Amino acid sequence: MATHPHTPDELQARAASLDDADPLSALRDRFLLPEGVIYLDGNSLGALPAAVPSVVADVVRRQWGTDLIRSWNEHSWWQAPLRVGDAIGRLIGAAPGQTVAGDSTSVQLFNALTAACRLRPGRPLLLTDPAHFPTDQYIADSVARVLGLRVCRVPVRELPRFLAGEGDRVAVAGYSPVDYRTGELYDMAATTRAVQQAGALMLWDLCHAAGALPVGLDATGVDLAVGCGYKYLSGGPGAPAFLYVAERHHAAFDHPLTGWNGHAEPFALDGHYIPAEGIARARIGTPPMLSLLALEAALTAFDGVDMGRVRAKNLSLTGFLMDCADTLLDGFGFTVVTPRDPGRRGSQAALRHPEAYALVQALGTHGVIGDMRAPDLMRFGVNSLYVSHRDVLTAMLRLREIVSAGEHRQESFRRRTAVT
Ligand SMILES: Cc1ncc(COP(=O)(O)O)c(C=O)c1O
Repeated sequence: MATHPHTPDELQARAASLDDADPLSALRDRFLLPEGVIYLDGNSLGALPAAVPSVVADVVRRQWGTDLIRSWNEHSWWQAPLRVGDAIGRLIGAAPGQTVAGDSTSVQLFNALTAACRLRPGRPLLLTDPAHFPTDQYIADSVARVLGLRVCRVPVRELPRFLAGEGDRVAVAGYSPVDYRTGELYDMAATTRAVQQAGALMLWDLCHAAGALPVGLDATGVDLAVGCGYKYLSGGPGAPAFLYVAERHHAAFDHPLTGWNGHAEPFALDGHYIPAEGIARARIGTPPMLSLLALEAALTAFDGVDMGRVRAKNLSLTGFLMDCADTLLDGFGFTVVTPRDPGRRGSQAALRHPEAYALVQALGTHGVIGDMRAPDLMRFGVNSLYVSHRDVLTAMLRLREIVSAGEHRQESFRRRTAVT
């Protein structure tokens, strides 16, 4: 690892001055973080927004407990998938009426990929990244099997070359703008353009972008997008995902899961499926209302928040984290794998270390929560709404203490848990 000019004292002073000048610092009060915990895993499960517990209690006790079935009308439960979809849409640059909330990212990937292939009949190829999150690859394989098509795994950087040769055979390209392991950010606009110039459709998985980057879906002309509600959107464990379908595709959008909620007249209870107009045809079945309304409450943490500022802060936090790693961890076997170029990184920084798992476990016992991705990556996700530069510095100082004392070598930190 390259040596870096900053001393620990200089890092301390820099953290203080960056935090003092942070226009988003007050947003931390919109979250209920446990005392003494530094939470750098919001790229896996966002922290609990303060607005959520009372809303969930009200939904359970009053809306469900007292108002019962009437709540579908009286509390507008029926409209929630599109209402919450629009709230997410505001954060990802989607005008109203193009985003629906519901189901999991995996399910929405299946829907989006299948519908995309149906929009491009006669094109036999689906493209995905061999480094993409596994579920994206598995679902692409399954869609290809169901439709009798073929998946080509093409790294995002090699897309232009592949498209030059095979572009007219490609139905859809499904990629993530952010590498979930390294945090590397790819050029969404250029990739979208290249895919569309080949006549194919562009599908983005925004799990690591929604709520962290000002994703301009409409402005970029993206065709389809999916993403989860539980990472930077902080909607809670297993929060509903979302599907974005650009308006120009609505009329021809042939959704594979034709559930009754997506029917033009659900309560006509007709035996034949007629899709609803617009994004409502991407509804499926009865939504998990408790989770959906928890997500809606969570999204209020973004009220009045400028995504440009969110982005500027997470770049500052990740840049600072890498500076701290350079100074404090030099000589301990770490490699920073996240790009230093701000234009090429998302909202997380990752360090490679052969004992990554044990180090993450040891850090957890010192109140610093990150995570590990096999075989050797420590990931630190920074949510601009509740992470400070002081948090980042403290995390790196604790990591140095652990590694210099060899504390992570204890047997208990090597025992694998189900979730890493
Ligand atoms: C890029 C990406 N897609 C999808 C998922 C998960 O899909 P699901 O929400 O269906 O579990 C993850 C989870 O970390 C992810 O990083």
